[in-house]
Parts: sequence; C-alpha cells; structure tokens
Amino acid sequence: MSATSVLQIRPLAAPFGAEVLDIDLSQPMEAAAFERLHQAWMRHLVLVFRDQTSISPEDQIAFSARFGELLPAQIKKYALKGHPAIGVVSNAKDETGEYIGIPNSGRNWHTDFQFDRRPPDATFLVSRELPAEGGNTLYADMYAAYDALPREMRERIAHMRVIHSRVKAWPVLYPDRAPLRPEDAAQMPDVSHPMVRTHPVTLRKALYIGGNMAIGIEGMADGPAMRLIHELRDFAVGPRFTYSHRWRTGDAVLWDNRCTMHCATSYDDTKYRRVMHRTSMGPAVPV
Ligand code: SIN
Repeated sequence: MSATSVLQIRPLAAPFGAEVLDIDLSQPMEAAAFERLHQAWMRHLVLVFRDQTSISPEDQIAFSARFGELLPAQIKKYALKGHPAIGVVSNAKDETGEYIGIPNSGRNWHTDFQFDRRPPDATFLVSRELPAEGGNTLYADMYAAYDALPREMRERIAHMRVIHSRVKAWPVLYPDRAPLRPEDAAQMPDVSHPMVRTHPVTLRKALYIGGNMAIGIEGMADGPAMRLIHELRDFAVGPRFTYSHRWRTGDAVLWDNRCTMHCATSYDDTKYRRVMHRTSMGPAVPV
C-alpha cells in the first residue's frame, strides 16, 4: 500500500462522502495521484482515509500543505508541541492537569473559522485516540441544501451577507471564560461573508451559514435576520443532506469548508479519551 498506488474511491452509504482505500498518507504521493485524489474530493466533498495508523505529524503537515497555505492552530496553547500548524482537539489532560487540546471543539454546526476574513478552504482531521462510543462528526452538504431551496428563497438570499462577531458572541458562548481584553478584542474584527458562495473549482453554489458567531445579516434587523439564518441552517442539516461519521481506528477525514458544514458530537468524557489532530489550509476570502 502506498500513496502512489491506484486509488480506490468508494462512495459512502450516505448522501455524499467517499472512503479512500489502499492509500498510505505516510508515503509521498505523486502529482498524478494527488490530482485524482483532488478530483475525488471535489466530487464527494468529504473523504475518509481508512487505516492511517502510521501517519506522523510531519506526514500530516506534508499532506495538508498540498491543499494550500497552512494556518497556525487556532488556539496557540493547544497546538501540538513542535507543530504550530496542528491544533489538538481533546478532552485528555497532561500531568499538570491541563487539557492537551480544545475539549469541546465544534459542538455546533459550523464551517471552520467562518468568523475570519479568510477562512480555510480545507480541514484535515486525523484521529489519534477514540472513544468506544459517541464522538461522531456530522457533515452537511451545502450544495445540495442550496439546490433544494425553493427558487424564491434562492433569489431572496442571493446577495445577502452574514455578519460574524467573535467579540459579541464571546460572553454568550463562553460565560465561564474571562471577558476578552480590549487588546484581544481589537484583533477580532467583525466580518461579513456571502450567504451563498460560489466554489472556485466546481463553480457550484453553496449555502454558507454555519457557525455560532453569526450575529446578523447586513441591512436587516437582528430578529428577522437571525430567524432566517436559523431557518436555513435547520433546513440544511436535515437527514437528506447529512452524513454522520463514526470514527474507526486509523481514520483521517478531509473536508471542504466551501461546501460543507460539520458538527462534533458528544461522548462520555469521564470514561473515554478522544484525541484528534487538525490542520486547516488554504485561507481565502469567500466569494
Ligand atoms: C472541528 O470542528 O473541527 C472538530 C470536529 C471533531 O472533533 O469531530
């Protein structure tokens, strides 16, 4: 098994997504194989790589870098030691009793870092330790959700822009954390992104309405704006548009933030450890 052998792409028993078999991401990958992989990713949106038990942090970085510029871990103190571009998502603690990663990351429908001006195109999540039950990751196909909207709704939202604010959302989302210091808040300007974005490769349109830091829509009163965002989000996460990934030992998953949302689910963290290594790549302004 090597990263250059003929790729086996098997669609998942789900509305979208595919498994990639017979590939070892710890091995170098030729340009032609990467091209086929990229095409499969464009087609299936979420790729599940099975049996990646030998992928090292260096391999993860090398593979991720093929998808564009690597972003640093979102929270510096939860970067993997010696690897500033790998963010750890985990409930495990070190010998001093500190979490080694973000314990409850992403337990809401979102696309990664939608609150940034240049959110990443792609995310690659490598499982390192998994709970025996729970801890699935849910994915939603935002092309399909957009395509299924009534024509009047597609026309209505065509030019809307959703406003995201880390500063305003902070006290609501993190009541247990210290308030933001003014110098930190100054680093987190509000951003707005199109509610419907066009994928630069497939040229398909996708809803872009994830995240729990959305606070409104430009030019619209807060109440109706938030009702519309919630209505669209509820619609987009219906069973016909979603896939629930039950992680297996050795799984690594690549997803496209330009046309999917995802949501981490809970597990018994008093009983189990879950350790995931995340890389985020290809920051770009959504259009
Ligand atoms: C994330 O939202 O990036 C984390 C997903 C997960 O841990 O399942």
